[in-house]
Amino acid sequence: MFPVQRLRRNRTDERIRNLLAESSPDKSKMIMPVFVSEDATQPEPVSGMKGIFRYPVDMVGEYCSKLDNYGLGGILLFGVPSRKDEIGSESYNDKGVVQEAIRKIKVSSGIPVIADLCMCEYTSHGHCGILNGNYVDNDLTLDSYSKIALSYARAGVDIIAPSGMMDGQVSAIRNALDKSGFSRIPIMSYSSKYASSLYGPFREAAGSSPSFGDRRSYQMDYRNSREAIRENSADESEGADILMVKPAIFYLDVIYRSRQNTNLPIAAYSVSGEYSMIYNAVESGTLSKDFINESLTAPFRAGADILITYFAESYARDH
Ligand code: PBG
Ligand code: ZN
Repeated sequence: MFPVQRLRRNRTDERIRNLLAESSPDKSKMIMPVFVSEDATQPEPVSGMKGIFRYPVDMVGEYCSKLDNYGLGGILLFGVPSRKDEIGSESYNDKGVVQEAIRKIKVSSGIPVIADLCMCEYTSHGHCGILNGNYVDNDLTLDSYSKIALSYARAGVDIIAPSGMMDGQVSAIRNALDKSGFSRIPIMSYSSKYASSLYGPFREAAGSSPSFGDRRSYQMDYRNSREAIRENSADESEGADILMVKPAIFYLDVIYRSRQNTNLPIAAYSVSGEYSMIYNAVESGTLSKDFINESLTAPFRAGADILITYFAESYARDH
């Protein structure tokens, strides 16, 4: 006698297949990254990411209300400012591009607005914080991060997502928010963010490439995974409400391992380079269209609760 795989034999029936699926992509758990540009006068296509645009502040409310109608879980906002300086001071301007966009989006729809908090789009040198010589000064940068968080909070943001990988960024932001009466705003921390080549198309879209050096002194080494657990735990103890693993598809082991080590919600960020690879493979006909669904399922199967993906809009529109 050998075990008969009765259930598998029934999987030619789609309804039974769906009944038995252990995980599936769910649009209400997906977040769409949204670029808003201070200079744009119409949606500008992002080269390297077909189907992705930078929106003018005036049009971002309408766009996000469309995303809301598709039933997406939320948006993750990135700003492209018209002015940069050495200390990235536009990032905490109450009339800055992200702050204005948050206000517009909140009057147009109820979609949850998560704002990315970093300085690389705002500094003339493209690093994620304030420089001291050729190095990012971790502790000096925390003061600016706190100022950005407060300006986002005043604009009405729902969740703040610090992505700069500075040590202590979660507690600095948490304290600043709590002291100013914003204790109910959660923090989604980019806790395990790797120094990855997969951010290339994003940096072009956001104008955030470092003008010298790289981000390896603050982002993680892709040879490590235990380090991810240390980073997650540090952020959890500082008061993070949601942890993140980024990138996603090449880091499924890190998602799985993170899931075993925390009870916080975990967001996986499938980044710009992943989107481009998958999009190009499908568009050229090299791989079939179901590859998109396969790639959107994998992070959930690995244990992620939330998926940030540039496919969120098209997936939610079609499902
Ligand atoms: C900024 C930031 C980056 C991404 C999200 N926030 C780029 C970077 O660290 O250089 C990458 C997102 C993507 O590639 O889709 N710190
Ligand atoms: Zn940055």
